[in-house]
Amino acid sequence: MKRIGMLTSGGDCQALNAAMRGVVKSITNAEKDVEIYGFLEGYKGLIYGNFTMLTGKDFSGILTKGGTILGSSRTPFKLIREPDENGLDKVEAMKQNYYKLKLDCLVILGGNGTHKTANLLREEGLNVVTLPKTIDNDLWGTDMTFGFQTAVDIATEAIDRIHTTADSHGRVFIVEVMGHKVGWLTLNAGMASGADIILIPEIPYDIDKIIDKIHERTARGSKFTILAVAEGAISKKDAKLSKKEYKEKMKNYKYPSVSYEIADILREKAGVDVRVTVPGHTQRGGSPCPYDRVFASRLGSEAGKLILKGEYGFMVGIKNREIIKVPLEEVAGKLKSVSADATIVKEAKMLGISFGD
Ligand code: F6P
Repeated sequence: MKRIGMLTSGGDCQALNAAMRGVVKSITNAEKDVEIYGFLEGYKGLIYGNFTMLTGKDFSGILTKGGTILGSSRTPFKLIREPDENGLDKVEAMKQNYYKLKLDCLVILGGNGTHKTANLLREEGLNVVTLPKTIDNDLWGTDMTFGFQTAVDIATEAIDRIHTTADSHGRVFIVEVMGHKVGWLTLNAGMASGADIILIPEIPYDIDKIIDKIHERTARGSKFTILAVAEGAISKKDAKLSKKEYKEKMKNYKYPSVSYEIADILREKAGVDVRVTVPGHTQRGGSPCPYDRVFASRLGSEAGKLILKGEYGFMVGIKNREIIKVPLEEVAGKLKSVSADATIVKEAKMLGISFGD
């Protein structure tokens, strides 16, 4: 008999269900005596013992379904050691629930914050296997996270659609792309859709360089310019501020996000007609693309293999197209960002894309 606890934590993304289906199918196809405990709304479910018993049937027909059948929530790692409003020790509560249910292991699907807590649970003696989800693709130890390719498709389509209207009206358009503190999503969607300027957090921008690029395009007869701007994009000026100074600036920040600030400056300094489009959470929604369905299924299947062998303490990821297992302690707390010197950045520059640097 195997007793497996499962949870999805942090911001959702596409293919979470496909990944869980992969884990369950691979285990139940090999072993008949399996109990699956689905903890609801992420770590909250494990903390408060809120779970549902699942069978193989619950994982049927969910390969293409977006979101997560278990629900998700954010449980910030920095607060995990702090008691909840009723004085409950959250880490102790998670351990107690794990032992009470006599679980063999926990399968945890999540991004950066989730992996810090997963590693903490491992350090506390629980058996944990994790799967890397996030549209941001910022998890250390894996070349790719599931959800990312689907989000690239969605952000690309948003920028594609902006092209025609930008052309009709001869406008400058900013499309703001998610990605938290990294630029993978913006870089890939920007290149895929032929954006003229790509701004990512890892390469701080100079607004005058952006204006130069717009003017250069106008001089060449281009009626419009498209900027793919990461939600975490930052100017060179702001990048020089200390954490404290930056926090102070943000206290009185009048814009909903960086794109609106850039738009305002461009209107004022370059006298251009600018519009901002923010696809926002559509990038995380809906059905996973075929790549993510296959990728998440492969990861799930390999996680199932580890569980069947009783090998715990790993995240299943991909390196050079091979599915691999990475020790959790190597993953937790590290961010995978775009290097300013990355080959893909150099190639994009050779194509004439400006990074505003
Ligand atoms: O981490 C995934 C992500 O979608 C980021 O790209 C974005 O910054 C964040 O989550 C949004 O979080 P929330 O859904 O809590 O607003």
